[in-house]
Amino acid sequence: MMPAAPSRDATDTVRQHGAPLHIAIVMDGNGRWARARHRPRSFGHSAGRKAVRAVVEACLREGVQALTLFAFSSENWLRPRDEVGALMNLFVRALDKEVDELRANGVRLRFVGELGAFDAGLHRRMQAAMDSTAQNSRLQVNVAVNYGGRWDITQACRCAAQAVARGELRPEEIDEARLDAWMSLGALPPLDLLIRTGGELRLSNFLLWQAAYAELYFTDTLWPDFDAACLHQAIEEYVQRERRYGRTSEQLAPLP
Ligand code: FPP
Repeated sequence: MMPAAPSRDATDTVRQHGAPLHIAIVMDGNGRWARARHRPRSFGHSAGRKAVRAVVEACLREGVQALTLFAFSSENWLRPRDEVGALMNLFVRALDKEVDELRANGVRLRFVGELGAFDAGLHRRMQAAMDSTAQNSRLQVNVAVNYGGRWDITQACRCAAQAVARGELRPEEIDEARLDAWMSLGALPPLDLLIRTGGELRLSNFLLWQAAYAELYFTDTLWPDFDAACLHQAIEEYVQRERRYGRTSEQLAPLP
């Protein structure tokens, strides 16, 4: 039997394991951070926004090419109405205040997820922010909103089925590389490092496909306390890891 075709990240990266090009973060712990200060959860989310800013600046300094942030999961709609409302207001305020500076610093902003579920005003602002930064390429910041990893895989499969129905593709031509290109982050460097703050040890339906070969880094630090030094520590640990992609250590020895 023929071995499965390697996915786009499996071969090229093996011998070039330097600093991570693509980092994703599950920004967890805002609520506990606020509770420890006897403040409402929305206070924690506002503090979390400042941490986002610090981490974007740090990624620019560290030469990271893509940063993907889990800001609102498909399941977060189930939170109390006032918390969902506070988060939506926070996104609007962040867009109004930050986009010009992001654009001036070479950041391309993208929202990934089912954007149609947001109210028209917020959706318009998200689209405008994507359009106005579309020419930038120094750092791509993807904000995952109303996002779920299973949704992402499902929508990529739907794209494949539609291509088959249009007669552009035969079912046997559907492979990992083609599906990968239909995933939300398909055009970006493969995910290298997935960080979760806040002490929980799970993926919570984030980037399920893209995390296949990512290095996972969990920290107890609550998201509002996560800063440039914390990011640097995660990168330092990542650089020490051996990424084998199913091979042995000996096979990874530098080429003569
Ligand atoms: C999880 O912490 C955090 C969220 C659901 C919201 C993340 C949003 C931000 C960090 C706001 C800023 C984002 C942008 C992109 C402007 P939690 O509420 O589940 O915390 P807990 O586990 O302590 O309850």
